[in-house]
Parts: sequence; C-alpha cells; structure tokens
Amino acid sequence: MTDTTSNKMWGGRFAAGPDAIMEAINASISFDQRMAAQDIAGSRAHAAMLAAQDIISDSDADAIRKGLLTVLSEIEGGTFAYSTALEDIHMNVEARLKEVIGEPAGRLHTGRSRNDQVATDFKLWTRDQFDAAESGLLALIKALLGQAEAGADWVMPGFTHLQTAQPVTWGHHMMAYVEMFGRDLSRMRDARARMNESPLGAAALAGTSFPIDRDMTAQALGFDRPAANSLDAVSDRDFALEFLSAASICAMHLSRFAEELVIWSSAQFRFVTLSDRFSTGSSIMPQKKNPDAAELIRAKIGRIMGANVALMMVMKGLPLAYSKDMQEDKEQVFDAADNLMLALAAMEGMVKDMSANRESLAAAAGSGFSTATDLADWLVRVLGLPFRDAHHITGSLVALAEQNGCDLPDLTLEQMQSAHGDITADVFDVLGVENSVNSRMSYGGTAPAQVRTQVARWKGIIG
Ligand code: ARG
Repeated sequence: MTDTTSNKMWGGRFAAGPDAIMEAINASISFDQRMAAQDIAGSRAHAAMLAAQDIISDSDADAIRKGLLTVLSEIEGGTFAYSTALEDIHMNVEARLKEVIGEPAGRLHTGRSRNDQVATDFKLWTRDQFDAAESGLLALIKALLGQAEAGADWVMPGFTHLQTAQPVTWGHHMMAYVEMFGRDLSRMRDARARMNESPLGAAALAGTSFPIDRDMTAQALGFDRPAANSLDAVSDRDFALEFLSAASICAMHLSRFAEELVIWSSAQFRFVTLSDRFSTGSSIMPQKKNPDAAELIRAKIGRIMGANVALMMVMKGLPLAYSKDMQEDKEQVFDAADNLMLALAAMEGMVKDMSANRESLAAAAGSGFSTATDLADWLVRVLGLPFRDAHHITGSLVALAEQNGCDLPDLTLEQMQSAHGDITADVFDVLGVENSVNSRMSYGGTAPAQVRTQVARWKGIIG
C-alpha cells in the first residue's frame, strides 16, 4: 500500500507520498541493511565529533550514543522493523533513533549528508571484505604449501596445450598456485591501503560550513586520513571496483585450479582423490563421486566478473558528484564478496583434504615422450650438437618409438644409434623422469630442491 503522506525525513516540500512503483525502485533497505553496523559506527563517530567541536551539546551527543546502541541491539537481536518507506539503512536508523530518544536525534545529521554517509558505510563494509579475502587467501596458501611440501619430489606430467610436455613435480605444480594466490593477496592488501581514506564530512558534495573535525572521525573509524576532495569523496567507488577487480582475478585463478581438479579426479586421470567431504554422489549412477565443489568454484568467476563489469558500467558515465545510480553498487559487491569468500573456503577445504595418487602421477609422468627435451639437451651437452639438430634427431627417435609402440627409454642402444652413431648408453640416465626433474635446477625450476626453497620462502612471507 502506498503511503500518501510525504517522506518524514526529507518530505518538507512534498505534498504527496511516492507512487508504489517509485518506492519500489527507490528503496535500498532490502539489501543495504547489511551495512547497519557500519552505519551506526559512522553515526557514533560523527556525533562524538560534533560534541567535541561544540556543534551539538554533550548531553545530546550522549543521548544519541546511547540511542544508537539501543538501535544496534534491536538490529542484532532481529527485532528491528525495517521500513521500505524510509528507503535505506541511513533513514531507517535515524527514524528509529528519533522514536527512541526524541528531539536530539534530529541533530545527528548536522554537517553531513546521506552522500558522505553511504560512501563511509560502504567503504567500511568493503574494507572488511579486503580483510576477509586476505584471511581466506592466507589459509588457502597454507593448504597449498602443505601439499607442496609433502610432494616436493613426486613426479607428474607437466602440460602445455594439455599435451604432455615435460615431467614436473607435484610440489612445483602446487607452488604455481601459491604464486597466483600470493599475487591476489598482494592486490587485496594494495587496494585496501589505497582505499582507506574517510569520506565522512564531505557532506552532500561541497563540504560544510560547520567547524567539523574530519581527522577525528577518520581516526575513530580506522581510516588513515580524510579524503582530500569532497566532490571525489562522495562520488568515488574505485574501492568497490578495485575489490571486484581483484576478486575477479582471484576467482579466475580459483577457476583454473578447479578445472584441473575436475580433470585430475576423473577416472581417466586419477591424479587426485577428492575427499568424501568435498564430493557428491549421483542419484542414478551409484558409482559416481562428483567434484561438485570444484565445478561450482569454477563457475563463480561468472558472477564475480559480472559484478565487476556491472559496476563499471554503472559508474562510467556519471557526472560529479553523487547520482542515485550509485545505489546499484552494493548488491554487486555483496554478492561477489559472499561468493569469493565461499569459493576460497571451499578450495582451501578441498586442497587440505585431497590426496595425490603418487603412482598414477608417476606412471603418467613417464608416458607421452615426456623426456624428449632431456634427450635433445643430452645430445647438445654431451655430443656438442647444435640444439636444432638435436631437436631433429630426437624427433626421429620419438617417431621410431611411436612406430614400435614404446616409450623413449624402451628403445635399444642400437635403435638410438640409428639416429646418431655417437650416442652412448649414458643417454638412458636422462630419460628417467626422476633425473629429468632433478636436473631442472634453474631458479624457479621444477627440481625438488628448488620447490623446497620456494616453500621455505613462502613460509617466511606468510609467517
Ligand atoms: N540509499 C542511497 C545509496 O545507496 C543513499 C544515498 C542517497 N543520497 C541521496 N541524496 N539520495 O546510494
């Protein structure tokens, strides 16, 4: 039912209330109630500052502080009655404060606007998400380090084009993801440091004539400093976009890893066994154990990147300063943050629980002519051949092995010598996968010793 009276928070110049459809498109309370705690924290900091600056009396500030605590406990206790007519969390809280403490409530909005208020609340909320992402990433990195340490010298095939390329170690493969999630961690920390400036006190757009102390409110809310331009402060959503963009890259990494887990857990690969705790069954095929968590993680990039694009499109044509378009920021960030945290936690759980099948990995590591590069390198190192010639000779031996239906180490010395007469039996040493990975000692290479060095380095970094 449409309320025919004008809005009690801003309706002074209005003779009639909004149409029901207007109310429906205008209200954000159905979702911005998630920022209730941040809204109340911002109001408490603002009221304390107004009193310190003698803009309101100490007794009014005290009444406001106590009243806000009452409102907060109602919200936390689930007894708060949200009103769509009051549009958003800011006006819902203030209207309830008026009911609880009366006249002093009307003084809270001195020297501020909903524009700096919403920017402040949303920044505080998003700041917590940077911190949550950091914790989630650290936990996932720890789980990966556990896998890498356990299997630093387990051999497996390394792929390019998803074709067997060269043998690598399980630990090395895990550490590749540590590097990726490590960059995600640094992106989150980087953006959090940049965003930590307080919009509060920018007021509607131009600042205020009241002698407010923006340093005081900034400090009370854990910001490093007040934002330096009031127009920018109320119309900036870069912090949300940086979160969504860092979240998108992270979700892309999660998706790539999830894809590998889906492939690796298949009957054709059997590289890993996922735990029952992170798998599901089929209602019709009794033998099935499905990697649903990995598949859902693989899919999360869709909505997270979607949120990133959606908010970028919302912001792209907006003139300074605040426009109501910006109300469309919150649901995107809420949904992306919820799903990123869930995906990180699910991936951490899967990684901690999964077991690599060392025998399957080793068997696959030796197939597909994976040590052909080692053979070519041997021809260069020992016989002094140019690499291009060595490549060609090795190629002919691969073709020969293929014809005989065997792998490179199964060829006889005579067969080897048919490609180049100077080849000696020593060549067979480099055709073993263990020797192959052990020889890759270049910095950042797949040799177990290099993997252990990187595990130790990362342990030092994350503490
Ligand atoms: N609910 C609004 C939002 O989320 C709050 C700011 C409204 N400001 C205004 N002047 N209408 O953006």
